[in-house]
Order: sequence, then C-alpha cells, then structure tokens
Amino acid sequence: MSTIESVLSETRVFPPSETMVKQANISGMAAYEAMCKEAERDFEGFWAKLARETLLWHKPFTKTLDESNAPFFRWFHDGELNASYNCLDRHLKTQPDKVAILFEADDGKITKATYKDLYHRVCQLANALKGMGVKKGDRVLIYMPMSIEAVCAMQACARIGATHSVVFGGFSAKSVQERVIDAGAIAIITADGQFRGGKEIALKPVIDEAFALGGCDGVTNVIVYQRTGSQVAMQRGRDTWWHDAVKDQPLDCEPTWVDAEHPLFILYTSGSTGKPKGVQHSTGGYLLWAMLTMRWVFDTKPNDVFWCTADVGWVTGHTYVCYGPTAVGTTQVVFEGVPTYPDAGRFWKMIQDHKVNVFYTAPTAIRSLIKAGPDLPKKYDLSSLRILGSVGEPINPEAWMWYYTTVGNSKCPIVDTWWQTETGGHLITPLPGATPLKPGSCTMPLPGIVTDIVDETGNSVGRGKGGILVIKRPWPSMIRTIWGDPERFKKSYYPEDFKGKYYLAGDGASTDEDGYYRIMGRIDDVLNVSGHRLGTMEIESALVANSKLVAEAAVVGRPDDLTGEAVCAFVVLKGARPTGDEALKIAKELREWVTKEIGAIAKPKDIRFGDNLPKTRSGKIMRRLLRSIAKGESITQDVSTLENPAILEQLKQNL
Ligand code: WT7
Repeated sequence: MSTIESVLSETRVFPPSETMVKQANISGMAAYEAMCKEAERDFEGFWAKLARETLLWHKPFTKTLDESNAPFFRWFHDGELNASYNCLDRHLKTQPDKVAILFEADDGKITKATYKDLYHRVCQLANALKGMGVKKGDRVLIYMPMSIEAVCAMQACARIGATHSVVFGGFSAKSVQERVIDAGAIAIITADGQFRGGKEIALKPVIDEAFALGGCDGVTNVIVYQRTGSQVAMQRGRDTWWHDAVKDQPLDCEPTWVDAEHPLFILYTSGSTGKPKGVQHSTGGYLLWAMLTMRWVFDTKPNDVFWCTADVGWVTGHTYVCYGPTAVGTTQVVFEGVPTYPDAGRFWKMIQDHKVNVFYTAPTAIRSLIKAGPDLPKKYDLSSLRILGSVGEPINPEAWMWYYTTVGNSKCPIVDTWWQTETGGHLITPLPGATPLKPGSCTMPLPGIVTDIVDETGNSVGRGKGGILVIKRPWPSMIRTIWGDPERFKKSYYPEDFKGKYYLAGDGASTDEDGYYRIMGRIDDVLNVSGHRLGTMEIESALVANSKLVAEAAVVGRPDDLTGEAVCAFVVLKGARPTGDEALKIAKELREWVTKEIGAIAKPKDIRFGDNLPKTRSGKIMRRLLRSIAKGESITQDVSTLENPAILEQLKQNL
C-alpha cells in the first residue's frame, strides 16, 4: 500500500490520557477551543496580551499588528526588546545554576553549561564581536558544528543586534560563498571542524575555499572555535581563534535594544528557482512564537529535560534549540553526533542517560532506526519520556505506530508538528493534553492560526477535501520578507491567483470530516529529502554548471522508503550517451560534483542518461512524465504533445 493510501485509510484515534490532560499547560479540547474563539473574537487583543505576558520588553509596544503595507506585516513594531536578554538575563535571578545545555559530544563526552555560564559566554563573545566592529544591523555568517558554542554564536549576534545567517555544516564552499554575498556578511563564526559518527569533518577549510571562490572581501573577521584540534590555516589580520577573541573580555555585555521588527536572522531555504531564498525573521514576533509553542506544544514544565535533535543549521534548530528552550528556561540536550553511532541505540541510550522528558525528531530518523533495530528501544529505560514530537515531513502511520508504542510505550502523545522555515514555529499540530491523535495527521491549527484548503482560484474547498494549504491571517512569527528581494517574497507567498491575500505554504493538504489536516507534500518544484528542502532547479543548475560534461539536466523527486523523497536526475551529456561502466563512472563524477556545488544532501540518488529529454514541440521539458519514469510507473498520460516519444524508453533504463 502506498503511503498516501495508508494515510487515507487510517481510522485509529488516540485521545490523551487523563493524567496527560490534567497536567497539561493547555488542558483539554474545551480549553483549546476557548483560545481559538478568543483569537477569533479579538484577534489583535489575543496576540497583544500574549506578547505582553510572555516577552520582556525594554519599551512596551502600543500597536499590535500593522497591515497597512500588506503582505509586509509588522507586529509590535514600536516595542523594543533584545532576544538574548529574553533568553538569558531573565533567568539570572531565578535559576542561574540550572543547566541550560547538556552537551553530548560524538564520542559521548558530556559538557554542561548553566544559564549563568551561557550568559557569560554569550556576553564575552558579543564583546569580542563588538571589538571587531560588528554593529547592530550587520550580518554575521555562522558555520558551526552542533555545540554549546553554536548557540553562543547565535545569541551573541542577537545580543548586539547583528543579524545572523547560519549555514548548515553540510553545505559546500560554493553555498557558503553565495550566502556570504547575498547577505552581505561582514564576519564569519566557524570551527576548525566537527565530529560526526566517529569521523572528522572539516569546516574552516570550507570557509577558506569560499574565500578562494571570490566575492567575500566584505568579510573582515573570522572567529574560529577549536573543536577538533586539527591544523588549519589562519590568515593574519582576518582569522582569530575563539579562545583568543573572548580572553579578557568582560563577562557582561549591555544588550543592544532593537525594535520588534529588527531582523533577528536570515535563513536560506530552497524555492522553485535555482537561487535559495534568504528567509528574514523578526525579533519580537518570532521569539514570542518560539516561547508559546514551547509551552503549548511541548508542554514545558520547570523540571523538564528537552531534546530536539535538529541541527542549528535548520530552522528547527533555531527555534527549538537556540531560542525556544532557553527563553522558557528549560534544560536541553544538544547532541553533536548521529543517531546510528556507535550503534542504532544511541538516541535511546541518551534518552535513558539524561532522563529526557520531551523528545523531538524527524520521521526519516525514526524510519532509519526502525530499520536498524526495531526492538532496540526496549533495551533502554525510556520511562522518563512524556511527549514525543515529529517534524519535517509527513510521518507515515506505520512509523507513527512504532514511535508511539515502542518508543513511547503507548503513553506519550506524538505531536506531529507542521511548519516551515517561513513560519518560524509550529502552526498545525496537536496539543499533547488536548488533541485526540490520528496517526499521519498533524491535526489542527494552533489558536490564532487561520488555515484553510483552497482550490486553484483561492476558494475554500470545504471539509473532507484536498487542495492547496493557505494561511488566511498573518501570525507573529511569519517570514517578513526575502532578504534583498521583496518582490520575490510577494510573488512566492502572496501570489495574485490567491487574491494576494493568503499566505501560500506550497504544500498540498486535505482535511477529514473532523477537520484534521493531512499534508500531502509540496505542490511546487521543491523536494523533501530526509526532511531537508531542496529545489529541483537548484540541483539542475548545479548539474549544468558542469559545462564540460553536461548539456542539459532535469531533476524530479520520487518516493523513497527511508528518505521520504529521493533526488532523481535525468541528464543529457555533451558527448554520446554513456552505457555500462562508463555510465556508472560519469554518474559517480556527477554526484561528487553536486556535493561540491551544493552539499551531500543534494546528491542525486538516481541518475539516468538520455540523448535528449522529453519535450513538447515548444521545447518545454515534460516533468510529469519524468516523475512517472522516476517512480517506475507505466506512462498512462497523454503523450501526444511530445516531440520525441521514443526518448521515454531510453530514460526508463536505470543504471
Ligand atoms: C516543509 C518545510 C518545519 C521545520 C523543518 C522543515 C514539510 C514539515 C511537516 C509535517 C508534513 C511537513 C512541508 C513543509 N513538513 N513538517 N509535520 N508533516 N510535512 O522546514 O525545510 O522549511 O520545510 O516541510 O512540506 O512545507 P522546511
């Protein structure tokens, strides 16, 4: 049975236990519904009250939502605050010695930082950055391993009002260079390298390579955290070791107050064109949502140990590693390594060792751990767990059931959280002490979030039907613009076809008779591989950039049991179509090429060579046919507009 069929035939319902309901921050469906009603009755009042109660304001805001320049919405814009102050200083009096971060290295070594430690370390780095001339509004690129220092780097930027742009450590030098240029970064914070799965991975050499590609002259300082101790080149006058930079810096640093709309960070994500978009987030609205969702969705309690396995290179690591957990003052686990090293019991052992209460990971990790050891969780004491979370892609009911029964011992609600880089935090998700769960459904929108499913013209399709997922009202943590490209922001998210009024998420979805949402995947040219977003055009551009070998390329996704989707590339070479060993050799070469251009996550799983691609008479590539071929389906579509039908047979041959 295909995933979609099994999702649609799913009828099991799992209501929260009485104990769960009783202890929950939002207790019972009636409480949830009352909040939704309140938001509907007085939309601005609902948000204003939460923003006043939740955030520490240096200067209170007087205006909640400014829609005068829609879709460039502004929230709380005349208020002033500082994100790092909200995450650290607020705990200094009440819980300075509470562990903020429990770091477990790849090799199992534990390092802890209390709230007071974290505060001092952030202040010292913030002072160092200031000393280098980094000011409010400047952009700082961060290329770091999972570490306490990665969180410090982000918060140090926030402390002085600099906008950070974190680039995932798996991205290539070329990707770093493009992001340095697009964001106009003036400083970089990186490490010599990192350890993952027992292997050492270089980071600083990638930064050096990015400089060598050119265009990065605006970067005048590089701070290098020593993690592996491997020899790296340090350019005099530009590169400084982290430990030298913070040595002798004062332990306090007065926060730079910024207005609520000040860009806290830019995070690049893939869209339908070749160029990644710099999603720009605010300070006030973003942080508000990070805190609220920690409390509502993860039901944070004072003594909780929280663990989100996402890397800080992705939005999940921004909201649920760097900002959310610290702002609400929880203890969290930060993990350097991978789930399968030294064996597939690593996550379960860590949950046992650190008595994790709330655990948040991705379906792709769950599926790979089922494959590697379906009974492994039973070898560990996982009784500390209270809530399980899932994010990044639809979770198939089979994986859901295993997560629920084998990991959660049938007592932990699974919060299947739907959101995106652009949304800043969870939007459609169960509440653990309220929502009856249905496997494979992210259930219902949070209070104040107005979602709907519409047809191509923007009209609501009604309950029980499928269509295009939209968000009808702005929300505090929404994307503010695409960095440097407001027109693209408007076109991508508020297109005219949807009356220019609704936020277009780019996902297809359906609801059932109870109003439960199921996400069906992207409706644009974006793939979701292991919960990571990749643009097909981005990979195509990378392939054709190999101008010696490649004449033309088309990339589509196909379903994959482990990674959700897999990248499938159809390539026309400049030379003759290769066969046999020659084809295998060139395919390998092209995979390495894509790794160098973008990063290993974009590497095509399948590569097929053709003399040409299927095209219409006007020369348009017929991607729907390629999708069918990639899936191994027989072609039932109309091919009468196809210029060269014979090409299909050729492309069906896998290497
Ligand atoms: C896309 C956003 C959200 C942080 C990580 C990914 C898909 C995300 C779910 C979910 C079904 C999901 C959507 C979305 N997605 N969460 N719970 N169920 N699909 O952020 O890289 O911006 O990707 O991930 O397709 O549009 P992202």
